[in-house]
Amino acid sequence: MRKNIVAGNWKMNLDYEQGLSLFSEIVNMVKDEVRGGQEVVVCSPFIHLASLSKLGASAPHVSIGAQNISQEPSGAFTGEISATQVKSTGASYVILGHSERRAYFGETDELLAKKVDAALAHDLFPIFCIGETKEERESGAFYDVIKRQLTKALFHLDAAAFGKIVLAYEPVWAIGTGLTATPEQAQEVHAFIRQTLAEQYGQEVADNCSILYGGSANPSNAQSLFSQPDIDGGLIGGASLKSRDFLQIINVFN
Ligand code: G3P
Repeated sequence: MRKNIVAGNWKMNLDYEQGLSLFSEIVNMVKDEVRGGQEVVVCSPFIHLASLSKLGASAPHVSIGAQNISQEPSGAFTGEISATQVKSTGASYVILGHSERRAYFGETDELLAKKVDAALAHDLFPIFCIGETKEERESGAFYDVIKRQLTKALFHLDAAAFGKIVLAYEPVWAIGTGLTATPEQAQEVHAFIRQTLAEQYGQEVADNCSILYGGSANPSNAQSLFSQPDIDGGLIGGASLKSRDFLQIINVFN
């Protein structure tokens, strides 16, 4: 079901105590502020998940997510974390397809399709990331790239399963660079994504999908981005590590 979502991606930051401290700040600040029906998600490193779920038990308006899962159900995969294990912490979301995992850990569309299936099989909502590199943007190939990423990793799903997917358009050239896509650039791609979904699943499924923007979103540009008709919120990196900045972004929907 389409809703406004502001999700923080902490990436590989914050030790155990720092994470609990930041989360407590967010929960206490958000408790009195969220008035627009928006959903807040915090995607932390694995070490925090179980504790954040316990801390967040009194704050149903803040959900917890992981940043990855194995495609394997269990077994001899040293260092990996399964969907079952993530679900057992109380998490409800998992980021998949992030450009950093594609680039640094070789995650392919085919592998990501398996990870999406593992997440859905264990009642985790994937926040599935798609987006082009600087070279792909400059060459004009970005629509083809995004369509390929959607098709190969998600379009094996039936309409009911796809209804549990949250999408995040993250132009790689905007991630961590301070070079945010303009609202017009972002809206253009979000509209293309929604049209691609409509062609695959029909207009109702397309209209019901939450499509987030990620890539140097911050308090100064969130309003102009999130006011676009096909942008339903953000997947926030750096700005989610600062509770006041994260709250200002959340409050855009109030
Ligand atoms: O997943 C969100 C992240 O990639 C965006 O990072 O620091 O550009 O907001 P940042």
